[in-house]
Amino acid sequence: MSLRLEGRAAWISGGASGIGEATVHLFASEGARVAIVDVQAEAGRRLEAAVRAAGGEAMFLECDVADEEQVRQSIEQAAARFGGLQAIVNAAGIVHVKRLHEYTEPEWDRLMAVNVKSIFFSIKHGIRYLGRNPCSTVVNIGSISSFVGQAGTPAYTASKAAVLLLSQSIALDYAADGLRCNCICPGITDTPMLRHHLHATGDPAGALARRLHRVPLGRALTPGDVARAVLYLSCDDSAGVTGTSLVVDGGYLTAAEWETAKVTLPEDLS
Ligand SMILES: NC(=O)c1ccc[n+]([C@@H]2O[C@H](COP(=O)([O-])OP(=O)(O)OC[C@H]3O[C@@H](n4cnc5c(N)ncnc54)[C@H](O)[C@@H]3O)[C@@H](O)[C@H]2O)c1
Repeated sequence: MSLRLEGRAAWISGGASGIGEATVHLFASEGARVAIVDVQAEAGRRLEAAVRAAGGEAMFLECDVADEEQVRQSIEQAAARFGGLQAIVNAAGIVHVKRLHEYTEPEWDRLMAVNVKSIFFSIKHGIRYLGRNPCSTVVNIGSISSFVGQAGTPAYTASKAAVLLLSQSIALDYAADGLRCNCICPGITDTPMLRHHLHATGDPAGALARRLHRVPLGRALTPGDVARAVLYLSCDDSAGVTGTSLVVDGGYLTAAEWETAKVTLPEDLS
């Protein structure tokens, strides 16, 4: 059976952790050469070594995606090493938990730069490679917060709504160049980002259980659940798909009201 990303090179931001990390592993196992782009150097280098040990091809590039020059350099380095670039995955993201009046302007600007402006930079500097391929793809990670408000995270919600519409606009503007652009909108996914917030409540198991009662599937998604959707939108299985948003949320957005009788917590929290 042929590998789904054979011969392709991918630049994956936020690749050192969570959804990005799972995407790095999956892409490499499907034959892609992968640039792991992240601010976390230690984790990124560990992952690079793990991918290589498993027979894949990966390079770690330390990069703050809010900085245009760093994004430009990381794309140039990846394209030079891999002889081009066919796929971009924008998974880097941050969240702050506070109400709007508690924000400082630099905090607001930082979140918007990491979550939204980074996508602009990746297209600006990646298009010269992506636009030369008939099968190139961009996948941006939005959120269920791209569609609905969420208490306590106003800047995050605004940023993820922007990611959705930016993805659609990119799809339109570059369709004639052979580039497809789509957005994945995950629900509650068990990653370090989620764990950080659960632990901040002082009762991680209780906090997660309360959230999961809103999820018809009754469990948190794994990073792999989301990575498989990223793979779908980055390979030829989705050749006819551009400008769409794929919600991967265990059914969360399906019902206005929902109460799941029994939820399943990850083993270490149950
Ligand atoms: N976990 C969830 O429940 C959930 C739900 C919906 C959407 N998302 C989105 O999924 C994406 C991945 O998040 P995750 O849950 O895997 O979190 P995570 O914290 O495990 O991973 C995010 C990665 O982004 C990197 N990053 C942060 N700022 C960066 C910067 N300036 N430059 C480069 N890298 C940077 C981090 O170092 C980290 O490796 C994010 O965009 C997040 O908003 C997560």
